[in-house]
Amino acid sequence: MDPFSLKNKVILITGASSGIGRSCSVECSKRGANLILVGRNHNELMITVSLLAPGTKAEIIAADITQTENLEAMIADKVADLGKISGFIHCAGIEKTLPLKKHSPALYRDIFEINVIAGFEIAKILSLKKYKDETSSFVFIASAAGLVGEPGKAAYSASKGAVISGVRSLAMELCRNNIRVNSISPAMVNTPILEKMFEEIGEEASSEIIRKHPLGIGNPEDVANACIFLLSDASKWVTGTNMVVDGGYSAQ
Ligand SMILES: NC(=O)c1ccc[n+]([C@@H]2O[C@H](COP(=O)([O-])OP(=O)(O)OC[C@H]3O[C@@H](n4cnc5c(N)ncnc54)[C@H](OP(=O)(O)O)[C@@H]3O)[C@@H](O)[C@H]2O)c1
Repeated sequence: MDPFSLKNKVILITGASSGIGRSCSVECSKRGANLILVGRNHNELMITVSLLAPGTKAEIIAADITQTENLEAMIADKVADLGKISGFIHCAGIEKTLPLKKHSPALYRDIFEINVIAGFEIAKILSLKKYKDETSSFVFIASAAGLVGEPGKAAYSASKGAVISGVRSLAMELCRNNIRVNSISPAMVNTPILEKMFEEIGEEASSEIIRKHPLGIGNPEDVANACIFLLSDASKWVTGTNMVVDGGYSAQ
């Protein structure tokens, strides 16, 4: 049996309507997983479904996952259709690059609600016996910004640092339920979030950021492949870690 196979696994992926989450969905389907795809934009989720490997069973949850009171009922519904869940990727997130003087409590709250709280609330639901397969693996997409300082990123970096440290505690708590929990910290990856950030900071600052990546800017598949490893049995002895996938950005 290929240790990297995801055959017979049901994996829930947030942020599946775009960028890294869409790529994770496609790559997981190629390795045999059935999927629950989560995002707000129904049309974009349907585009992701159209890209999946033939034969993949996929269910969609089109919802704002910061509205946490509805999450469990929506997940329960999909588990009834596809079976218990053995993998979770929290890829939904927002990024803001703004000078500190433009940061506000509302900005911190908005960023933390999706980047941190929504993911941890879903992890809570997916750790319940009624939704969880015998073993499970949770992967949170953090960021190199959670490890390395960047101007304009106080709220975003704080949220990603919270993910990285929260993951370690989740790993310690959930190991007794046979759940492994890890994060992945990418540097700049070519997706809509990056295009928006480059618009915000201008050409000169964008070129400077690109220059800081020894292997260049990443592609969504570079992150998806790391997710495959962490979701599969190939990583069955890996928990509580933060895997840096950043083209050498944070090594300098
Ligand atoms: N791209 C990079 O350079 C980079 C680098 C490091 C880390 N990351 C992290 O990687 C993750 C994915 O980024 P990306 O580049 O793929 O971004 P993206 O293309 O902008 O995708 C973001 C995803 O998050 C979903 N989302 C946002 N708010 C949501 C909400 N309230 N409820 C449900 N879904 C929500 C969006 O879905 P809808 O629009 O359908 O709601 C979309 O699918 C993020 O956590 C980001 O911080 C990205």
